[in-house]
Amino acid sequence: MTVEKLTATTESESEKKEKLVKGLEGVVALESKISSIIGSVLTYRGISIDELAEKASYEEVVYLLWYGKLPTRAELDDFNKQLGNSGAIPEAVQQMIKNFPHNSHPMDTLRTAISALGLYDPDTAEMSHEANIRKAIRLTAQTPTVVAAIHRAKNNLEIVQPRPNYSIAANFLYMLDNKEPDAIAIKAVDTALVLHADHELNASTFCARETVSTLTDMHSGIVSAIGTLKGPLHGGANEAVMKMLLKVGSVDKIDQFIHDALANREKIMGFGHRVYKNGDPRAKHLRRMSENLGKLKGDTRWYEMSVRIDEAVTRDKGLLPNVDFYSASTYYTLGIPIELFTPVFACSRISGWVAHILEQYADNRLIRPRAEYTGPIDQHYIPIEERV
Ligand code: COA
Repeated sequence: MTVEKLTATTESESEKKEKLVKGLEGVVALESKISSIIGSVLTYRGISIDELAEKASYEEVVYLLWYGKLPTRAELDDFNKQLGNSGAIPEAVQQMIKNFPHNSHPMDTLRTAISALGLYDPDTAEMSHEANIRKAIRLTAQTPTVVAAIHRAKNNLEIVQPRPNYSIAANFLYMLDNKEPDAIAIKAVDTALVLHADHELNASTFCARETVSTLTDMHSGIVSAIGTLKGPLHGGANEAVMKMLLKVGSVDKIDQFIHDALANREKIMGFGHRVYKNGDPRAKHLRRMSENLGKLKGDTRWYEMSVRIDEAVTRDKGLLPNVDFYSASTYYTLGIPIELFTPVFACSRISGWVAHILEQYADNRLIRPRAEYTGPIDQHYIPIEERV
């Protein structure tokens, strides 16, 4: 492009400057029928998350997200069977997981293992809707297997194979510890999976849609999403919350800790939200779970510390807890290793990513926004001998 043309383009673009929205806050980028956030009400396909958290199984929610309706008994039985038969991962990927550096973070190894699963999936390059549904089922069933395998391999334990007749929540807990999970733990994980399954156009979902809008394959979209979920401003916050609880150590140190952190303009993980300004509707469910599990296990310390932090941050900064805040103490009380908190989020959100990928494929247009150029113009090539 000549300098004149570049200048002309830049000038005409500068007229649009007022349209730039940093962080895309409030920008509506596409239409979706999957989940909605209206005020502080989150719905999946129009059904309130409050109702689903109380009444639905995770598998029912996955079906709802993908097919737009709750399954009949026969449809759910068939869907459960398909998921149950799809959780195994190829021997080569198990071997790869065993060879990963044991000190790597499970979100990094999860991202890499899901990418590797694409190499072995019989439908990777097949883009028909039927093939995409087959991949969706495999990816949703395989992700918890991969996360459990990563944990086992890192700790020099034998990888446990999934059981076809177990739910996703039960299978995950079983493969993690190689023992029968108790009903309370299964119910808690199942509810957590329901609560994390989808969330409109959050950062990782946007990345998944952005990626597949080039008409690349589903595994590529999911790999993009996992890399995005990992960050502490998104799914990585639940791990950061637990590290904060452990660092503070006791209830009596909380007020000072929060005061100092806010005075230093540090972010308190698990608080604030781009969309919810009057509270995240998922937080109250996780708070209740954290309390109930604490009481059942005879250790409410992490719940009590969380409540005190919640009160301090609300009082001192006016910020409310988001989904990641009480999920930290919930998972910790369940005995889930801290570095698996964000991978557990991925085990659930994969269903939402897939729903959005399917919706994107069904009515695709390349997602390609613009940037406002603020760099220099009218520059020239300088021979290397003349450069300073
Ligand atoms: N702790 C302390 N201050 C916070 C905060 C937090 N968790 N979240 C937001 N703020 C403050 C910011 O410092 C900023 O203050 P300022 O205007 O004085 O500079 C203001 O609130 C706006 O925050 P900003 O980061 O611009 O909001 P955002 O919409 O871009 O970001 C989050 C939303 C979720 C990324 C942000 O609230 C955050 O970083 N939270 C902690 C991470 C987290 O829990 N992520 C999981 C989200 S589900």
